[in-house]
Amino acid sequence: MGYGLKKYGKWALVTGASAGLGRHFARYIAAEGVNVALVARRRERLDELASSLEDDHGVRTLVIEQDLSRPESTARVNAEFGERELGLLVLNAGFGYHGAYLEQGEPQMAEMINLNCVSYATLARRFLPSMVERGRGALIMVSSVLGYFPGPWNAVYTATKAFDLALGESIRQELKGTGVELLNLCPGMTDTEFHEVANEQNRKRKVIPERPMDKPEEIVELALKSLGRKGTVYPMQGLPAALITRLLPRGWAARIAGKVMEMDD
Ligand SMILES: NC(=O)c1ccc[n+]([C@@H]2O[C@H](COP(=O)([O-])OP(=O)(O)OC[C@H]3O[C@@H](n4cnc5c(N)ncnc54)[C@H](OP(=O)(O)O)[C@@H]3O)[C@@H](O)[C@H]2O)c1
Repeated sequence: MGYGLKKYGKWALVTGASAGLGRHFARYIAAEGVNVALVARRRERLDELASSLEDDHGVRTLVIEQDLSRPESTARVNAEFGERELGLLVLNAGFGYHGAYLEQGEPQMAEMINLNCVSYATLARRFLPSMVERGRGALIMVSSVLGYFPGPWNAVYTATKAFDLALGESIRQELKGTGVELLNLCPGMTDTEFHEVANEQNRKRKVIPERPMDKPEEIVELALKSLGRKGTVYPMQGLPAALITRLLPRGWAARIAGKVMEMDD
């Protein structure tokens, strides 16, 4: 299925392209004949992906090895990307931490906020002006269904994803009439490296029975087919979360989320 991504411009830039959703975004975008800049820390993985995209789809690629939790990274990404015409920006690099708020270390909290929030806000600020000037372009902000919730045992992560969602919903209104599209993507549990990185092995699964996770390909397809049509999109498994937050007071939602996310001793 084609998604018509070429209409946004010649290049896309995907953060967090070395794994999970970002890697799949890069593949789907290149399959449309759009050149892709790949950003993450693990250079070998990006190099490998870049050559396979060039071989399989005949597109050009650019590898940008960057730690996006560092304050100078936005300017560096911008400098390496140079004068290329950016049509589609996918802000996706992020990580979580599953555990008690009082046990999460301060350096990791700061790293998470810098990556999940600051890099989203500053990269969007860097790249949107040229899209607005050209009157075309698109931004996909990867938030989470947790962005709708207070999220005990995922406190800082949940707050970062609420930030992304609010940021995206707000900027989207400001972009109305400019020709630039913005989609907020709110995945639920998706089968990527995220859960290992987030220390989720200790999570109890007693309240809600285990269900298969979504495949990253399904989430990327949902995003690409919704781009230009919807403002915010979540998969079917996100529906209960979205409904609960609309129908219940936030204190109740926090209690339910706390039960679902609770840790084993
Ligand atoms: N999987 C889920 O269940 C789920 C659910 C809701 C929302 N999400 C959101 O989806 C997005 C993608 O996550 P994923 O599931 O694809 O996880 P993943 O498989 O762990 O991939 C995370 C990506 O982010 C990159 N990254 C991490 N720290 C970075 C840093 N400091 N600088 C630059 N890049 C960095 C990683 O690359 P390097 O390690 O090479 O830097 C990797 O490419 C995240 O924003 C996450 O919050 C995921």
